[in-house]
Amino acid sequence: MKKLQIELANFPQSTILDIGTGYGSFIEILTKNFNDYREIIGIDTSQTAIDAAKNHFKDYERIKFIKSDAFTMHFENETFDIITLSNSLHHLHNLPTLFDQMRRVLKKDGIVIVNEMLSDPLTLPQISHRLIHHFAAEIDREKGIIHDETFTESDILNLLNKTCFKIKDHWPINNESEDLSVSFDTSWVHGTLDQMLKRIQNSAQIEYYTNQANLIKNHVSQHGFSSATQMLFILQPK
Ligand SMILES: C[S@@+](CC[C@H](N)C(=O)[O-])C[C@H]1O[C@@H](n2cnc3c(N)ncnc32)[C@H](O)[C@@H]1O
Repeated sequence: MKKLQIELANFPQSTILDIGTGYGSFIEILTKNFNDYREIIGIDTSQTAIDAAKNHFKDYERIKFIKSDAFTMHFENETFDIITLSNSLHHLHNLPTLFDQMRRVLKKDGIVIVNEMLSDPLTLPQISHRLIHHFAAEIDREKGIIHDETFTESDILNLLNKTCFKIKDHWPINNESEDLSVSFDTSWVHGTLDQMLKRIQNSAQIEYYTNQANLIKNHVSQHGFSSATQMLFILQPK
């Protein structure tokens, strides 16, 4: 994570916004790599996520969580030195509008850090992660929740190039060599898939979903599981 540490070190006593914070997992990565921040605020539209993140970071005075929609956030212009958006690009539509909002609340010399898991290229164990993720995304979409499949590096570059930011640098984070990895055992994966099936047990497509889940279980049993490669992008206002 040396490159990330170098980027963050340019912003002593910074104010940081983490959009689509979920349970705050990217804040965890930020704080492992950087301690010289004044405040980190995580926002998310999900109250469940905000409550869990608040609980997880309850001992951290400089870290706060607010339920807020990224498209209508009420922060003053030019509030933040750094804005982060991790594994959320594929949860959001109308990205140019979102990035306009981010630019409004970012200081003129600030940066945006986008972190996103890749759909390709992946090893066979990493494909287990992609299969599970895409299965979850398909179920979310059936339930009316925005959740697209993950992107390739060139998909992400295309999306970011349509925003009001330019890409200063980007690099992959491979779970073999970096600390973003999470290890799961096969029974955890099977349990997770069964929980997902419960969410759509009344769907007319339940037979299709059950077959998909069984195919994924077979893939995981055969090849194991490893976290998909993630790609970090450092952006600056154009
Ligand atoms: C996959 S999670 C990412 C969590 C975390 N950032 C990470 O890297 O693991 C995507 C999050 O984006 C949130 N989200 C979706 N639309 C949003 C919006 N318009 N404003 C803020 N958060 C949003 C979802 O509720 C979800 O918690």
